[in-house]
Formats: sequence, C-alpha cells, structure tokens
Amino acid sequence: MRKIIVSPSLLSANFLELGKELKNMEEAGAEWIHFDVMDGHFVPNISFGIPVLKSISNAHNMFNDIHIMISDPLFYGPKFVDAGADLVTFHYEAVKEDEIELVIKAIKEKGAKVGLSIKPKTEVNKILKYLDELDLVLVMSVEPGFGGQSFMENSLEKIRVLRQEIDRRHLKTLIEVDGGINNETGRKCVEAGVDVLVAGSYLFGKEDVKERIKLLKGE
Ligand code: DX5
Ligand code: ZN
Repeated sequence: MRKIIVSPSLLSANFLELGKELKNMEEAGAEWIHFDVMDGHFVPNISFGIPVLKSISNAHNMFNDIHIMISDPLFYGPKFVDAGADLVTFHYEAVKEDEIELVIKAIKEKGAKVGLSIKPKTEVNKILKYLDELDLVLVMSVEPGFGGQSFMENSLEKIRVLRQEIDRRHLKTLIEVDGGINNETGRKCVEAGVDVLVAGSYLFGKEDVKERIKLLKGE
C-alpha cells in the first residue's frame, strides 16, 4: 500500500498565529507544509512570498512544499529555493512549452526538488513527456487562486493516467492533488493513485485536525 503524505495548505491558516499553526500541523502528523504563492497576475489573488517563506522555512521540521501560481517561474523559482523551499512546483500554463525544461533545470540546479502543476482545463497528456525529469506532478482539482472551493471530479481520471504512466515507466515521480480535498474526495484520489494530498480548509481551524490527517492518510 502506497504511503500517503498530507500537505496542509497554509493559505487557510490564521496568519495572526502562523508559528502556532505550523506547530499544530506538525504535532497533528503533517510531514509536509504547502505554501501557496499567488502573484495576482497568473491567478486572480495575491497571497504571500519570499520574506514569509524565509521566516518560516526553518521554524519547523516539515518538508517545504512550495506551489508557485505565478508568472515568470524561471526568474522566481530559484529564489524560492534560496528562501528555503525543499520542492518548488510551477505551472505548465505559466511558461511557453520550450521554457519548461529550463525552469526544471534552474530549480534542480539550486538543489531543490521540482514539480509541474496543471490547471483543471489542461489535459494531462501535455505533461507526460516531462515525467522522468520531475520529482512531482500536481493535479489542480480546483481553479487555482482560492481555498475552500469544491473538488472537480475530472481530476480523478488525470490521476489514474499519471499513476499508470509512472508505474509503467518505473518512475519515482510523486502525484499530488490540490483543491477541495476532504475525507471523501481524498479517498477517491488515493484510490485513483495519488501520493500527496493537499488540504487547506479541511484541516485549518479544526479541533479534530489530528483525526482528519489520520483519515486522509487512511490510518
Ligand atoms: C488553490 C491552492 C490550494 C488551496 C487548497 O489555488 O493551490 O492549495 O489553498 O485549499 P482547500 O483545501 O481549502 O481547497
Ligand atoms: Zn496549492
């Protein structure tokens, strides 16, 4: 049985108590923390960036899973590695096709892992050719930009296609899903073959966060 990783999305945190929120998630069993960077240009929202990552990346022992929903990932991707990212996932739709491998290389050269994300309207076969260079693929199960949205069922078929292709080619690339994940949608994604579940509104501000993380992990 595949080990399921839970990556709480900081976008749903109480920013007045960020340190405490990080500590709570780590104590509740989260091994990763998902950091949603939004620039108000690639997505219609602005969240947080490099100074915030710098101040928190070493303040916990979780894996810093950075999701950059921004234009110009070639310029900014490596800067998030300098700020403490362990993994930087950029968007397929934010670059021209002939830039994708440049961004992958620029992030890897800085010593971090690299992921590629696709929005709900992007077909999964657009990224199959990059799988052997990627540490992770992120399937967006909502339109990027906001927490608290509803899960889009068409993500399940993308996860199944990725699982089949990664296993067929004996790759170690992880599959992550992000958006509208709760116990019920999380289970469907695990059955479809996902490795990492991102969850924001399902986990933050909840008294029973430890049980919720256990449920997502299938424990
Ligand atoms: C949306 C972000 C997601 C979001 C998840 O653009 O990439 O990580 O914060 O929040 P929930 O789990 O509430 O959908
Ligand atoms: Zn995200």
